[in-house]
Amino acid sequence: MARYAHIVGWGMAVPQRVVTNHELAQFVETSDEWIVTRTGIRERRVASPQESTATLSIAAAEEALAVAGIPPRDVDLILVATVTPEYLFPSTACLVQDALGATKAGAFDLLAGCSGFIYGLHLAAAAIRAGTHQVALVIGAETLSRIVNWQDRNTCVLFGDGAGAVVLQGSDTPGGVLASMIRADGSGGELLILPAGGSRLPISEAAVRDGCHFIRMNGREVFRFATRVMEKATREVIAQAGLRLEDVDLIIPHQANIRIIEAAAKALGLPMDRFFVNIDRYGNTSAASIPIALCEAVQQRRLNPGDRAVMVAFGAGLTWAAAVVEWGAPRARPRPLWLERLARITLYLPAQLHSRLMRLWRRLDAWFSRILRQEGE
Ligand code: ACO
Repeated sequence: MARYAHIVGWGMAVPQRVVTNHELAQFVETSDEWIVTRTGIRERRVASPQESTATLSIAAAEEALAVAGIPPRDVDLILVATVTPEYLFPSTACLVQDALGATKAGAFDLLAGCSGFIYGLHLAAAAIRAGTHQVALVIGAETLSRIVNWQDRNTCVLFGDGAGAVVLQGSDTPGGVLASMIRADGSGGELLILPAGGSRLPISEAAVRDGCHFIRMNGREVFRFATRVMEKATREVIAQAGLRLEDVDLIIPHQANIRIIEAAAKALGLPMDRFFVNIDRYGNTSAASIPIALCEAVQQRRLNPGDRAVMVAFGAGLTWAAAVVEWGAPRARPRPLWLERLARITLYLPAQLHSRLMRLWRRLDAWFSRILRQEGE
């Protein structure tokens, strides 16, 4: 019997701190007027020192699981799409797995720039359709504020922090992820790059002095590439799903620049009200942009049961990706805040205890092995 991958839970988390264009204009030579007219961005969220890609991922994942009504022990796959992982290793996905107590899950990070969330959705849906996995958590999360040069007006005005997550579940009922595609063109890799911190250029005094630990971007070239692939990918994935453009209720594009979204709308011959836009409040949150927009589209009832939505993104790599989803999930019934908090404490406290016990056990085990070895000598 055919299997289908349905989105049954969704959640998002953004830092509280809002940085407006006016605030940016106080320390870099720019203006609210320039940023709004050239990008559509009015403000963005910036993580506090206590927040990181993992904390935002965990908060978004907890919300998505609460909406799905699925306990973490039932999750068997966790993917975190990010270009700003907590560490190079261990993966952010493993930190999420541990915090949630998802003891039956495999977990790994995925790096595909701003297309990363759709890459993750594509892979998780394929695993569910193949029957190897039943419940997958796909997260897009970033703290781009940590790799942005706040002195570089060409980039610092564009990016923001945040996370979004969905729970995908296998079902015999047709619907869910109807089609998806992922593509790459590595020849454009240097157009959007974080030069230092990898094996090519490890972090060093010289690398930091040259600013190689910050995002570098050829904005104009990325813009040209983006306007080309947004239309192409949208048409391709709709055809793959056996649908026509008019069968699609909502397009959820990567939120990088309002002018890129407007160009895609024009090329597709669609009015802007068929596109979901929240770039004004978050800027470009890279891999988090689509799942955050998806959550807000559901909250604002722009996406309702039975609707078909296209998600489409482009990003560093270069990469691009698109997916068509038939929204089948019933709208989440919001629980009172106190009940929600109580539920989370009872659910995730055992996970924290489990994690601590595992760490303690590992230490004891190492200690016993040392003693036994010494006795054997
Ligand atoms: N404030 C004021 N002036 C600025 C600013 C700023 N923040 N930034 C650039 N300028 C100046 C430039 O220096 C330039 O001045 P010059 O003509 O004297 O050299 C002028 O404005 C015009 O610059 P352009 O680069 O032509 O501006 P453009 O209209 O192309 O907009 C932008 C620049 C917003 C970066 C645009 O090219 C863009 O959005 N590109 C796509 C970027 C993108 O989507 N990146 C994310 C990819 S996804 C991922 O994986 C992370």
